[in-house]
Amino acid sequence: MSDKITIFDTTLRDGEQSPGCSMNTAEKLRVAEALVELGVDVIEAGFPIASPGDFEAVQQIAREFGDRTVICGLARCRAEDIDRAWEALRDAERARIHVFLATSSIHRQFKLKMDKPQIVKAAVEMVQRAAGYCSNIEFSPEDAARTELDFLCEVVEKAIEAGATTINIPDTVGYAVPAHFRRVFEYLRANVPNIERAVLSAHCHNDLGLAVANSLAAIEGGARQVECTINGLGERAGNAALEEVVMALRTRADFYGCHTDINTTRLFPASRLVSGITGMLVQRNKAIVGQNAFAHEAGIHQHGILQERSTYEIMQPEDVGYVGTNLVLGKHSGRHAFRDRIQALGHTLDEATFQRVFDDFIALADKKKEVYDSDIVALIEDRRREVPEAWSIQGFHTSAGTGTIPTATVELNAADGQSHCDAAIGDGPIDAVFNAVERITGIESRLEDFQVRGVSGGKDALGEVSVEVTIDGRQFFGKGISTDIIEASARAFLKAVNKAFAQRESRTAEPVLEVTRGV
Ligand code: KIV
Ligand code: ZN
Repeated sequence: MSDKITIFDTTLRDGEQSPGCSMNTAEKLRVAEALVELGVDVIEAGFPIASPGDFEAVQQIAREFGDRTVICGLARCRAEDIDRAWEALRDAERARIHVFLATSSIHRQFKLKMDKPQIVKAAVEMVQRAAGYCSNIEFSPEDAARTELDFLCEVVEKAIEAGATTINIPDTVGYAVPAHFRRVFEYLRANVPNIERAVLSAHCHNDLGLAVANSLAAIEGGARQVECTINGLGERAGNAALEEVVMALRTRADFYGCHTDINTTRLFPASRLVSGITGMLVQRNKAIVGQNAFAHEAGIHQHGILQERSTYEIMQPEDVGYVGTNLVLGKHSGRHAFRDRIQALGHTLDEATFQRVFDDFIALADKKKEVYDSDIVALIEDRRREVPEAWSIQGFHTSAGTGTIPTATVELNAADGQSHCDAAIGDGPIDAVFNAVERITGIESRLEDFQVRGVSGGKDALGEVSVEVTIDGRQFFGKGISTDIIEASARAFLKAVNKAFAQRESRTAEPVLEVTRGV
């Protein structure tokens, strides 16, 4: 019988730690909902001691989804971390505490300044403390891939004895290569006497582009849990991409003899959601969820596909919920057809959101002859991304052209309904709009990234603008859509500005500790 591989998603913890990817609690709840729909076995929802914001998100996710999947919180080997993690998790029916401590000689010597016996003692005491709260305990010897194998065996054995039910082997710095990593798992299974009492897990970073390959090699070596993130999000080069691990196991079940419980048709929507919220765009040729992942350009391939899909296709787009550019609806399509289409695309909207998306669709269909599936998904995502609006656009006017000074006049409504108007010049019309918005809101920003993409084909395509700006020393991301890219830019910029205002209001969410990047 095929073995089940536990899928442990850490998008909301390791993924969220990557610069520019921070999410607020509402956004984390939306991602958690998508992960539950996807069928992940464990959601690592955050690092509760890191900040009040992290704590609140873990607690809310535990309360809302803790009866449908295991909710996990991270803790260093410190009593206060473990107590705080449990406080956040205690309302979940199925909770896991994840305790970690570095074991490699580099970390022992330079970071922790602890010797081997001190490491073992701390690990044992803190696993025991966590096991006093709940029975589902994961222990990670951080930087395991660079730890001496005999010492790794000793720590793992003692952690299991102390109550760890999952032993996670992190390749914290992405140093491992597949054959080496497989051997680490084989060695542990051969040399740790109580190893059968715990599930072995792999946690790989992608610094050498090998995170997925190493995770699969770990499975060959005996791992039965893989830790991964949507779109491979994560610190530096990221973590192993969930969608790639899952589809490799499914497509090559003949080789691995393993399966997951993931509903693969939710992979593409989950990828879009995470990219939309974090602003981390998915490269076009990214495996499984890139726009080009199923595009066959070469004539020979197209000919083969028409004869028999399996000639050039090892997976089918519908297996991963790929949304293409099918022509679907026009201006005369009614609410009924629109609702059906939204359902067929796998989205469930409450009535108020449905009405807003429908109004946007009618407005778009007025401007554009043809509306595609991808346009509809962009409209849904745009409405679902709404953040509390300190400022909204009432209107704007720009003037630009060769030999003129680009100028913008912008009118914004404040939350109290008052209208504010100002004008500015800039390097171009978009810059002028951004400058006018800054003058009105009093916010100072630095634009870090600006990208435009056409959502579907054609000259009248819906344009999607993504911006990343630094405000108050933090990065904020915003996305806007319109058939007019200046308007899409203004909307994207204002979304980022509104996030900064929301952040200012929840200033209580200042970090309690500086979370070490890379853990
Ligand atoms: O990369 C790492 O070592 C981690 C641990 C906390 C599991 O993220
Ligand atoms: Zn990690």
